[in-house]
Amino acid sequence: MAKTKVRIVEMGLRDGLQNEKVSVSVEDRLRLTTSLVAAGFRELEIGAFVSAKWVPQMAGTKELIQQILVAQGSKKLPQDLRLSALVPNEQGMRDAVAAGLPEVAVFTAASESFTKANINCTIEESFERFVPVLKMAKSRKIKVRGYLSCSFWCPFEGRIAPATVIPLALRLLEMGCYEVSIGDTIGAASPAEIEKLFTGLKAKAGLRKFAGHFHDTRGQALANLHAAFRLGVRTFDASVGGLGGCPYAPGAKGNVSTEDVLYSFQGMNVDTGLDLGALVPLRAHLETIVQHQVSSRVAQVGLPKGF
Ligand code: HMG
Ligand code: MG
Repeated sequence: MAKTKVRIVEMGLRDGLQNEKVSVSVEDRLRLTTSLVAAGFRELEIGAFVSAKWVPQMAGTKELIQQILVAQGSKKLPQDLRLSALVPNEQGMRDAVAAGLPEVAVFTAASESFTKANINCTIEESFERFVPVLKMAKSRKIKVRGYLSCSFWCPFEGRIAPATVIPLALRLLEMGCYEVSIGDTIGAASPAEIEKLFTGLKAKAGLRKFAGHFHDTRGQALANLHAAFRLGVRTFDASVGGLGGCPYAPGAKGNVSTEDVLYSFQGMNVDTGLDLGALVPLRAHLETIVQHQVSSRVAQVGLPKGF
């Protein structure tokens, strides 16, 4: 029987680094990119074309892309990379186009308070900002992913109902996003809440166009990922080392760790196309660049003998 396949979208260079106290140099980000590619990743969110006043850690995204292009030119990196970056508005999209990205991601939320805190507008205004972004993308054949933050809980408003989330997720698809990543931004959801929302999404549009983006603030991320997997979700965002968090979601910790996700899928004989053995040793570089211990349990203790 053919193995079940899942697609892991690596967040380390964007979600992972955007919340760190230190700004990681472009040189170290290039080194991390090269290591992730060596572990099999082709789909990487490498940064964000947002205001450097709002998220200084993402400054240098343009320079990182330039260096990746140079490395591709000299065959140090393969040609088939699918790089993406966040764009909040037309200005960000212009920068992404100039940088030559084949894919971008727009982001909004299912909570008004979080949207205001994160991108300084209402949810409705965020959709208006996406209109020119999607238009530019369509004419240039650039793929657009959508993120919907606070799909379960908001740091300011508390619980968010599926009835609020589902129409917004569908609206992102209708606008032209090829996929919507459903975010538990502050890592507060439980597996039962994951089941409820994804069951609702499945009834409306199937699960093929939805991804799970789970933060691990309360230790639920891997359980939440498996709740979504059992329902049929096959695309997950994860971050090497478990780095991550949103600077505008107070207290939010990292994404589910890529190493921990690969460990559990490998144990289940699910195909990720990625090399866990090549990721685990990245811990030393990660801890040097972010200047603290990473949260990934698998990266911390390593693989058991014979795994
Ligand atoms: P604003 O201040 O309302 O924007 O910020 P503005 O249009 O009034 O412009 C103000 C200044 O920002 C101007 O510069 C613009 O040029 C500049 P000034 O004249 O003052 O020098 N500006 C920009 N600069 C660079 N790139 C741009 C851009 N647009 C305007 N694209 C804005 C609005 C959206 C720019 C701001 O709020 C922002 O950058 N927010 C970013 C927030 C962010 O990146 N958050 C983290 C990512 S989201 C996340 O982590 C959640 C996710 O992981 C999923 C999940 O976990 O749920 C995706
Ligand atoms: Mg996130």
